[in-house]
Amino acid sequence: MMRILVINGPNINLLGVREVEVYGQESYQALLDLLDQVQAELGVELTHFQSNHEGDLVDFIQANYQDADGIVINPAAYTHTSIALLDVLKAVELPTVEVHLSNLSKREDFRQVNYVRDFAIQSFENLGIAGYRKAINYLRDYLEEQG
Ligand code: DQA
Repeated sequence: MMRILVINGPNINLLGVREVEVYGQESYQALLDLLDQVQAELGVELTHFQSNHEGDLVDFIQANYQDADGIVINPAAYTHTSIALLDVLKAVELPTVEVHLSNLSKREDFRQVNYVRDFAIQSFENLGIAGYRKAINYLRDYLEEQG
């Protein structure tokens, strides 16, 4: 079975609590439930990980890439700062799809810097938690095409 790592960066565990006008009302638990649903629907195996710590995200990717076919990642604030995260994604060379809940292109200048975008095969933003479904779907189709 196709195995996809679904990785979330800092503060994504506060979904439904943090800036609901930006990130939506849906809770982090609702995101986890959605992932369960998508997993059953698409017949893919999703391994989910969230951390508020940059190095833990790097460690998780290093520890799990060999058993994985692709990555869906919302690096959250590390999108805009983390060369370490970009470097590990480049190192493990797994097809990677980027997700953002909010509309990054319409937000502050500091969010226009994005270290992950050029590496990602596709990006989804401004769709709330539904973006994860789109991203997983996209990655599944891409991996299937690659054979
Ligand atoms: C985010 C956007 C980032 O700028 C922010 O730091 C986040 C979440 C999003 O999903 O819209 O924490 O990645």
